[in-house]
Amino acid sequence: MAYREKVTIVRADEIATDIYEMCFSTENIAKEAKPGQFVSVYSNDGSRLLPRPISICGIEGDTLRIVYRAVGKGTQEFATMHAGQTLEVQGPLGNGYDISKVSKERKAILFGGGIGIPPMLELAKQLDCEKSIVLGYRDELFLNDEFEAYGKVYLATEDGSAGTKGNVLDAVKACGIEGDILFACGPTPMLRAIKQYAKENGLECYLSLEEKMACGIGACLACVCKSTQVDDHSKVHNKRVCKEGPVINAEEV
Ligand code: FES
Repeated sequence: MAYREKVTIVRADEIATDIYEMCFSTENIAKEAKPGQFVSVYSNDGSRLLPRPISICGIEGDTLRIVYRAVGKGTQEFATMHAGQTLEVQGPLGNGYDISKVSKERKAILFGGGIGIPPMLELAKQLDCEKSIVLGYRDELFLNDEFEAYGKVYLATEDGSAGTKGNVLDAVKACGIEGDILFACGPTPMLRAIKQYAKENGLECYLSLEEKMACGIGACLACVCKSTQVDDHSKVHNKRVCKEGPVINAEEV
């Protein structure tokens, strides 16, 4: 169930260049949220009607934490806000990761790339099995320290300034990282490569897809992606990333 609430910001900070965190207390959204879900954040500027979908980075009691990149007018507006101010937020939205089926004996590899890193933090916290966490950055690091509490962290940077030079799969090869279930969120080329890696190695794999969204609740079809199965809703080979996703079994896309 999703709620639309007026929430109060309790913390707002820039944690890296153009990367911001915001924590806000909610009445119901945080209580129902799961890792991998997202919220739609509405602008206080009435000329921007569409909300911005932002993944959930942390859930603590009734407080939610989001970490986002300020790229467009909406997110740049959020970046100027501070504790005590209020915002309209709808959520939790999307399916999230189904971690109840992951047994303690599994060995998971969590992949996060760029702004796909934040949602992996709550997953790393809640997933109760052995975990290797592979984080890919262009250059500047963020949130990496916070992952240390939940598993062994490996870094990959495009410029080689930290960890393995290259992408997250270069780090897997260079460091001999092994696992039998994969979870990933990041840019499409990274997800494509991880899907291929999972297929070649016969591994279960869940990808969190990023698509442009509009309504965020399954009504407008702005966010469809091609799927291997026929969707119950539209009877075509499509999945609505905001509704059937954003987390999708790699075999289905
Ligand atoms: Fe409207 Fe997904 S954003 S259906």
